[in-house]
Amino acid sequence: MSSVGKAGLEDVVVSTSDICFIDGREGRLVYRGYDVDDLAAHATFEEVVYLLWFGALPTKKEYDAFYKSISSTATRRLPPNLIALLRTLPKKATPMEVLRTGVSALSAWDPDAADNSREASLRKATRLTAQMPTLVATWERVRRGKPVVAPNPRLNLAANFLWMMSGKKPTDLAVKTFDVALILHADHEFNASTFAARVTAATMSDMHSAITSAIGALKGPLHGGANEQVMLMVEKIKDPAKADAWIRKAIADKMRLMGFGHRVYRVEDPRAKHLRRLATELGREVGDESKVQILNTVARVVTEEKHIYPNVDLFSGAGYAAMGIATDQFTPIFAMSRVAGWAAHVLEQHGNNRLIRPRAEYTGPTRVPYVPISQR
Ligand code: CMC
Repeated sequence: MSSVGKAGLEDVVVSTSDICFIDGREGRLVYRGYDVDDLAAHATFEEVVYLLWFGALPTKKEYDAFYKSISSTATRRLPPNLIALLRTLPKKATPMEVLRTGVSALSAWDPDAADNSREASLRKATRLTAQMPTLVATWERVRRGKPVVAPNPRLNLAANFLWMMSGKKPTDLAVKTFDVALILHADHEFNASTFAARVTAATMSDMHSAITSAIGALKGPLHGGANEQVMLMVEKIKDPAKADAWIRKAIADKMRLMGFGHRVYRVEDPRAKHLRRLATELGREVGDESKVQILNTVARVVTEEKHIYPNVDLFSGAGYAAMGIATDQFTPIFAMSRVAGWAAHVLEQHGNNRLIRPRAEYTGPTRVPYVPISQR
C-alpha cells in the first residue's frame, strides 16, 4: 500500500511554529496570539512586522527605535548600481520578475550577506522589508520612462510606497487602506511561498536566497498571482449588469475561479471582509464602484452555486486599482507585505534547524539495462 499522503501535502504537519495560527473552520487568523481582525483595526504594519519578528508587540520605546531604522532613507534606498541594472532590463519584464531579480541582486551589496546569525538576519530582514517597496516603485517609474522618486523618511511604509509609485501625496484613506492590506497579507502559516523560504533556509542558506525562493513561489496564479487574475476577470466582465451571467457561464465551463477557495479555510477567508470594505470605501472616494459591484455579484453566485468562498485575493486588487496601481503590481505588493512573515519563518527555521528533505515513493522501473545510443 502506498505511504504517500494526500496530494499537495494536504493536512501534513511538517513542523511546530510560534508565528501564525489559522483556524480553517472558524475562519480565524492569528499572528503570535493576536487576532488579525484586532491588528487590522488597531495596529500599524510596522508594529505587526515587529510582532512577527520579535514575538511580542513593541513598547513605545521599542517601536520608535524599530520604526526609525526601518523607515530611514539609508535603509530604504537602493544601491545606485542596482537602479542602473534595472534600467538595463527589457521594459516588458513583469514586476514580479524584476522583484525576484532585484531581491536576489540586493544580496551582492548587503554587508551582512553571508552572515546567518540572528542579529545579521534581522538587519537583512529590516533592509529587505524597507527596500522591496523602493524596488517595486522604482521599476514602475523606470518602465514608464518617468523619473525615480526618492523615499521619504517622514512617511510610513504604506504612504511612502504610494508616494514613490506616483510622485503624488496619497489620500488618508488610501494610506490607511494600504496599511491594513499590508497587515492582512503579512503572514499565513506554511503557505507555499513560506514553505519555499523555509526549505531554502533549512539548507543554512541566507535570508536573501530564502526570500528569492519565496518570491518565485508567490508568483504563481494558484498563490499570490491570483489577485492579478481576479482583476483581469473584472476587466473582462466590465459591466456590473453582466457579472451574474458571466460568472454562471464560467462555472458551467468549469473554469478555475480566481480569488476563491483555499487549502485551509472551509469558510470565507477572514481577510476578505476587511478588503471588501476598504475597496468599497476607496471605490466611493474615487467615484468608481463598478469593480466592487462586479466582485460582490461574482462572490454571491460562486458561494451559492459552488460553496467555495472568497479568499484574500478577491477584493485586494479592487482597492489597489482605485489607488491607480497597475494590475501587474498587485502580486509584488503582496510580496512587500509577506516578506515580514517570510523573514519571521527564516529566523524561526535558523533558530532550530534541521534540513528539510522529504522522500518520494518511486513508481518507475528499477533495473533497466543500458542500451548504447547506436542501438536505440
Ligand atoms: N475554482 C473552481 N473550483 C475550485 C476552486 C476554484 N477557485 N477552488 C477549489 N475548487 C474545487 C476544485 O475543482 C476541486 O473540486 P473537485 O474535488 O470536484 O475536483 C475542489 O474544489 C478542491 O480543489 P483543489 O484545487 O484540489 O484544492 P486545493 O486545496 O489544492 O486548492 C487553491 C486551493 C487555492 C489552489 C484553489 O482553491 C484555487 O485554485 N483557487 C483559485 C486560485 C486562488 O484564488 N488562489 C489564492 C489562494 S489564497 C491566497 C494566496 O495564496 O495567494
